[in-house]
Amino acid sequence: MRFFIDTASLDHIKEARELGILDGVTTNPSLMAKEGISGDSNIKAHYKKICDLVDGDVSAEVISTDFEGIVAEGKELVKIAPNIVVKVPMIKEGIRAIRWFSDNGIRTNCTLVFSAGQAILAAKAGATYISPFIGRVDDTNWDGIQLIHQIAEIYAIQGYDTEILAASIRNSRHIVQSAQSGADIVTCPLSAILGLLKHPLTDIGLAKFLADHKKSNS
Ligand code: G3P
Repeated sequence: MRFFIDTASLDHIKEARELGILDGVTTNPSLMAKEGISGDSNIKAHYKKICDLVDGDVSAEVISTDFEGIVAEGKELVKIAPNIVVKVPMIKEGIRAIRWFSDNGIRTNCTLVFSAGQAILAAKAGATYISPFIGRVDDTNWDGIQLIHQIAEIYAIQGYDTEILAASIRNSRHIVQSAQSGADIVTCPLSAILGLLKHPLTDIGLAKFLADHKKSNS
């Protein structure tokens, strides 16, 4: 399973990259706004900075909701860098645009996926990635991880090439469960990635090793 970071923070991207485990980045308009990035040229310049930091794919989301607008925005976004993937919402016009992008060699990430039916449609349209939102499904008292299982099973049976990019990850447990459920990629906040490091027995064990070493070397 590949690891993407779900942020527009350059500091968080750098920290994850320094760990040596970073395969890509996803962003969305809310994450850009959180970093205070606004205005078309500033947003594009920020995407360029992100693309220069990572070798892997960087999802850049369109704002338009009509076919012509989505295609026009996507064409501009892919000019920023070769590792840009156009993030398109799971709506009727979005599916039409994903088909157009696919037919024209532009890679896409279909976002706001909440059901297996939507995942099938995006795969049929030729999406490179789909982003099922695990945390937001959980928020509605349904099971986000079960959705990943279901989509992975369908894609395997049908032989779809579209990759499952588990999104809306809220904690480290979601990462482990995504890996177990057949996600190809997980996109997470830095806190959830760092949370994977934590185990009290590791801390206790290391303290004991270091104390014993100090005792016998003093
Ligand atoms: O990038 C989309 C997704 O990861 C958003 O997560 O936490 O806002 O539901 P969240």
